[in-house]
Order: sequence, then structure tokens, then C-alpha cells
Amino acid sequence: MPTVRVEPDGFLIDVDPGETLIEAAWRLGYVWPTTCYGQAECTRCHVEVIAGAEHLSPVGDDEATTLHLLWGRRPNLRLACRVKLDGDVVVRKRGVRGPG
Ligand code: FES
Repeated sequence: MPTVRVEPDGFLIDVDPGETLIEAAWRLGYVWPTTCYGQAECTRCHVEVIAGAEHLSPVGDDEATTLHLLWGRRPNLRLACRVKLDGDVVVRKRGVRGPG
């Protein structure tokens, strides 16, 4: 099962096949920044990909549209509510709170 390490806190999140990063985080009890709750509209869930980008699903149309303004500044940003993975990845995301 692929694992996402979330820096700077070092959280380790196991992601099931077909599951998005934010869905895995919610399943495990994490609190992840969002205001649209997985609708690819708010950008609050975005992560900076540090390593393992080759393991991420391609950027879909709705994700590309939502991140359009951010892409120009930081092309390694992805939406946690859209990204799926097939291998281990390291991301940077502030504001995530661990379970419990
Ligand atoms: S949760 Fe709002 S854009 Fe991902």
C-alpha cells in the first residue's frame, strides 16, 4: 500500500488503491485543510510534492482548472482531493492535524 509522508510534521498516511490522499487522511482521522470538502473548488487542500511525483495520477481537468492560478508560481502543487498514487510520495502541507 503506498504511503504519503506529510512534512513538516512527518505524518505517514497509507492510501488504499483508488482512494485520494484527502480521503485516506479523513479515513484515518486526520483533519486536512478544506472548505469545499473534496469538490476541487477551494484549493485549500493543495500540497507541494517533494518526492515521488512519478507515482501520482495525472492532473485531471477539474484539478487543472482549479490550480490554474497557482501553476504559474509553483508547478509542483497538486490537490489532495484529486491526487491518487501507485507508490510512495513525500509532500509538504501545513495545517494538517493528526488523529486524536
Ligand atoms: S478539498 Fe477543496 S480543492 Fe480539494
